[in-house]
Amino acid sequence: MLRELVSARRVLFLGGKGGVGKTTTASAIALDQSRAGRRVLLVSTDPAHNLGHLWGTAVGPTPTPLAERLDGIEIDPDAAAAAHLEAVGQTLHELMPEHLRGEVDRYLRLSAASPGAHEAAMLERIAELVDTGMRDYDLVVFDTAPSGHTARLMSLPEAMGQWTEALLDNRRRSDRFGEALRGLGAGVVGADDDSPRDQRERRDQRIRHILFERRDKLERLRTTLADGGTTAFVIALAAERLPVLETIELRGQLADSGVGVAALVVNKRSPADGGELLAARHEMEEGWMRRLRDEVGALPIVETPLLAAEPVGAEALAGFAAHLLGDR
Ligand SMILES: Nc1ncnc2c1ncn2[C@@H]1O[C@H](COP(=O)(O)OP(=O)(O)O)[C@@H](O)[C@H]1O
Ligand SMILES: [Mg+2]
Repeated sequence: MLRELVSARRVLFLGGKGGVGKTTTASAIALDQSRAGRRVLLVSTDPAHNLGHLWGTAVGPTPTPLAERLDGIEIDPDAAAAAHLEAVGQTLHELMPEHLRGEVDRYLRLSAASPGAHEAAMLERIAELVDTGMRDYDLVVFDTAPSGHTARLMSLPEAMGQWTEALLDNRRRSDRFGEALRGLGAGVVGADDDSPRDQRERRDQRIRHILFERRDKLERLRTTLADGGTTAFVIALAAERLPVLETIELRGQLADSGVGVAALVVNKRSPADGGELLAARHEMEEGWMRRLRDEVGALPIVETPLLAAEPVGAEALAGFAAHLLGDR
């Protein structure tokens, strides 16, 4: 069931609480798809990266081979934030008059320390990786940060899109105002190539180009996220109180951002026949499974067992994938 769902998509997001098995599930799916012949890019956006640990190799901010046809990336949040602020700085320097350059730089230094900058930067990097990933790979799998963070991130493209629109609107209005003013002083503008008016126009075009480029990038991300035929969002959880309640909440938050959840993976299910302690846990988990099913209706739910050993490394991940994808 999950394999059919993933095989038909180009982008997959894995979300959920910390420790429930997002990275394990994302890695197992990525490996399965690469073994089926697709070129797969596995991207970790969780600042608490653990792709490297799982695959037993150092994974960096550029594609690192993990298996045949499978590359991994761990987004470096600080590097992403630096690149983002550099781009924002460029826009602001173009927008603001020369004598405010010092102010702009002060603002940028302050922004660098704000959590919002890190989120916006992460979003911009995700947008880029969806673009380049869909160009260079058949499937891009995102192993995301714990729930709340991801839900906010998914609602950001819309908010940032609106913000950019407002900025462009302001520019258009002040452009018209500027033109009217210049009209009043007709004749002041020289005819040679480097007239102040030409300089102004070139500058305005650069600003528009920068703003439109960012708006389009976010717009493409928003379209891709909302397109259930291209993208699937899967939530991983454990059959315990907090993960179940958070999953129900996360699903609602994602729906508000126009992102539909395609399936749930309930990981680390305790066996009913593994002794008294595990049997008691199994019963408790059954209660939470009923609650979950009541809440999510027809949404597909896949259950994977608690394993004796942590599924680390390609072969163990392939074994976990067999549970996950219904081969055993
Ligand atoms: N089904 C399972 N059985 C046993 N251990 C598991 C299982 N799934 C995941 N783990 C282990 O649980 C820990 C958390 O899993 P991980 O995938 O890193 O979670 P997340 O990315 O959501 O924080 C890891 O040590 C992982 O090896
Ligand atoms: Mg993880």
